[in-house]
Amino acid sequence: MDLGPCRLRPFRPGDEAALQRHADDWDIARWLRDSFPHPYTADDAAGWVAYACGPGQPWVYAIDVGGEVVGCAGLTPGSDVFCRSAEIGYWVGRAYWGRGLAPLAVRALVAWAWRNTAFERVHAGVFAGNARSAKVLLRSGFIQESVRRRGVYKAGRVLDEEIYVCLRP
Ligand SMILES: CC(C)(COP(=O)(O)OP(=O)(O)OC[C@H]1O[C@@H](n2cnc3c(N)ncnc32)[C@H](O)[C@@H]1OP(=O)(O)O)[C@@H](O)C(=O)NCCC(=O)NCCS
Repeated sequence: MDLGPCRLRPFRPGDEAALQRHADDWDIARWLRDSFPHPYTADDAAGWVAYACGPGQPWVYAIDVGGEVVGCAGLTPGSDVFCRSAEIGYWVGRAYWGRGLAPLAVRALVAWAWRNTAFERVHAGVFAGNARSAKVLLRSGFIQESVRRRGVYKAGRVLDEEIYVCLRP
């Protein structure tokens, strides 16, 4: 998907070095689940690219600028009774912050979901204090729905999780 300043495209072998360079940053990892490693090693990058290129994982995309992966955005479908919901996740390498890449990727993924899936809602969980991400979502047509009070334990701290949602139009 061509989004102007960047593209959303599947991961591919060869993305590992750039992925590691951008992902190895505590100011990114601190706002994500612990499954996003820190430090982010070459092995972590290789594992992610293998996973993202593997079967059954169609909804994870590289944010690409000039042929280089500079971030990631993806949808995780809910299961069981939550099968009409998806969670959106994203990050952008610090060198590319402030260029509006995340809102472009979020808007494109959500529009894609309405066209190609049966999801009724896409939501995101933002750790309290992550004002940059809250702005991305508000700018992309999400509203804050609720707060899961003390729902997150990250780096030794208990944090609220703010739930933002975009409903199928
Ligand atoms: C949140 C994130 C994806 C935003 O990506 P982005 O492409 O920079 O998004 P934007 O360009 O729209 O910038 C969003 C806000 O970040 C802030 N920002 C931009 N550049 C910045 C910089 N260099 N330093 C600090 N803040 C900056 C601005 O407040 C901006 O809002 P504004 O345009 O109203 O001033 C990115 O900061 C990131 O990857 N953070 C860590 C991972 C994360 O939080 N993921 C989401 C989990 S819910």
